[in-house]
Amino acid sequence: MDIWRITGERKLEGSCTVQGSKNATLPVMAASLICPAGTELFNVPQLSDVDSALRILRHLGCRAYQQGNSVYIDSTAISDSTIPEHLMEEMRSSVFFLGALTARCGEARLSLPGGCRLGKRPIDLHLDALRRMGAEIEENGGEILCRARQLTGCEITLGFPSVGATENIMLAACAAKGSTVIRGAAREPEISALSDYLISLGAEITGAGTSSITIEGFKPRKQTHFRIISDRIAASTLMCCTAAAGGRVELRDVVPEHFSTVTDVLAGCGCDMIRTGDTLTVSAGGRLSSPGYFSTEPYPGFPTDAQPVLMAALLKASGTTYIREKIFENRFRQAAELRKLGADIETDGNLACIKGRERLYGSRLEATDLRGGASMVVAALGAEGETVICDSGHISRGYEELDKVLCSLGADIKATPHNTSAAADG
Ligand code: UD1
Repeated sequence: MDIWRITGERKLEGSCTVQGSKNATLPVMAASLICPAGTELFNVPQLSDVDSALRILRHLGCRAYQQGNSVYIDSTAISDSTIPEHLMEEMRSSVFFLGALTARCGEARLSLPGGCRLGKRPIDLHLDALRRMGAEIEENGGEILCRARQLTGCEITLGFPSVGATENIMLAACAAKGSTVIRGAAREPEISALSDYLISLGAEITGAGTSSITIEGFKPRKQTHFRIISDRIAASTLMCCTAAAGGRVELRDVVPEHFSTVTDVLAGCGCDMIRTGDTLTVSAGGRLSSPGYFSTEPYPGFPTDAQPVLMAALLKASGTTYIREKIFENRFRQAAELRKLGADIETDGNLACIKGRERLYGSRLEATDLRGGASMVVAALGAEGETVICDSGHISRGYEELDKVLCSLGADIKATPHNTSAAADG
């Protein structure tokens, strides 16, 4: 159990570099399997989810390790196409190994992935698409066996722009005969990042970042290197920390257009934003005002991953805020914990209503999931007195040394790590 002790109401001042993107790193790590080649990745955050992906790669026979913010993977000699349950359940992103292993070995045997318990999180869209490409899939309880002697390119229309399904199809399509067209594809920046990585391996892909992506089977290269994009959710979290605590923070090495929906809501609440190139400076002084309403949407809409942290930043905003969560059924789990700080939050299905309170008071909280845990850190920074957050490894799955980053900006946080990992969260 990691214990965070946060004494709130300290303004944040200074400058920090935002970490590389977790959600771009994990699909790229799975993609490194597609052809027998060496991959060097830069700007990789040091996270327990990255450790989990490295463990899976090593289990499959790759050489794979992280040194600082670089990851090295040599997938020349794969000895296995089966991933045991204990490795699959460590994170949601293990699902990408389905497409990658099927592409490389013509077979994948694995169990359903773990992941933050945000709702049902089925993978029917992934499986339907692979079947359309010619894979035979057996589902036996929680186990999946996917076999394809030769995948065949085809046109796949997604009923919902699922990020994970789009990425899995892109991975499988790299080994398919002929071209694959994904219609209704997700448009998240992480999709473009995966496309850029696959192109660096030799793939021919057009349209990533739009709702229609075309992938051709390709001749692999032997070696590639790739820089992971900046994490838009970590940047959004640091903006929300500043909004909750007050102060002025410069975020370096960001792509502001990747999280402009979050910036726009905060600007509407009274935060000042100054953007210069790959730097964004956020300033917050005095009480925020409620934005009234916002809802989560597929990209380029407001990201579901930033909803819990923005909710936390708005607990003290004047007025009432309504939040409609449109991606996951169960993404207000943080609300019950935030109430312990004195927050006035009511939830009804996928709608949350927050009545801004003038003050919040430190309490003892339990992190519910990755972004829910981060939302408690945000709220604690704006609360009077000490908040203790008990976290069974959720926050370190997605944030690289968040406590140290915030302390470097003036926060008062004492985090005591204990070496136990979160049970299946993602
Ligand atoms: C989602 C987010 C992504 C975020 C990630 C981690 C969206 C669109 N996606 O990606 O930005 O980084 O969580 O929190 O915001 N679904 C199905 N069947 C499937 C796949 C998905 O019904 O086969 C449903 C899910 O239950 C969910 C929705 O589609 O309600 C979004 O799923 P998807 O985009 O696939 O989720 P992630 O890839 O986990």
